[in-house]
Amino acid sequence: METWRALEYLYKQNKVKTIGVCNFEKEQLQHLLSHCTIAPMINQIEHTPLMHDEDLLSFCKENNIITMAWGPLLRGNMENQKIKEIAQKYNKSPAQILLRWNIQQNIIPIPKSKNPARLEENFFVFDFTLEDKDMQILNSMNENHRTSYNPLTFDF
Ligand SMILES: NC(=O)c1ccc[n+]([C@@H]2O[C@H](COP(=O)([O-])OP(=O)(O)OC[C@H]3O[C@@H](n4cnc5c(N)ncnc54)[C@H](OP(=O)(O)O)[C@@H]3O)[C@@H](O)[C@H]2O)c1
Repeated sequence: METWRALEYLYKQNKVKTIGVCNFEKEQLQHLLSHCTIAPMINQIEHTPLMHDEDLLSFCKENNIITMAWGPLLRGNMENQKIKEIAQKYNKSPAQILLRWNIQQNIIPIPKSKNPARLEENFFVFDFTLEDKDMQILNSMNENHRTSYNPLTFDF
């Protein structure tokens, strides 16, 4: 809370435009919301078809908290057969399908690449739309698969 108060202070001083949190689960957001004077505007979480928490996403939406997706390209491990099939259907790469899936949910993906060609490829996701049935396939793939720590059990 002390850190959040510092962020609120910077926001009120117009030193920063947006304040938010990272890897907050619903319980942690509820605690923050009940103790803050300025609500977090963004929650950056791991969000992929394999780590897709509908309950957390709905909670953020209801509270006007934008979700930002880290590791949106499955951290480079995009060999999943279902994702590959959807990519083939749209003549796009698995990376572009994963980015588009986030964008169509109004979630901001932050992919990383150090390769100029792949950086460019990752920008070309605004010239197609995933059909509802393909969104549903991707939405139904959740395995609660985290590539990092569980924020509720990690010993900070
Ligand atoms: N808040 C947190 O706790 C947290 C945790 C982890 C990461 N993050 C942030 O999330 C962002 C992305 O995370 P990340 O790098 O772990 O995962 P990512 O963006 O899901 O995956 C990056 C991997 O995908 C490869 N890649 C990128 N574009 C590709 C394409 N079009 N086709 C094939 N492979 C592609 C990259 O290789 P090349 O570079 O060789 O292209 C790299 O190996 C970063 O800004 C990071 O700081 C935040």
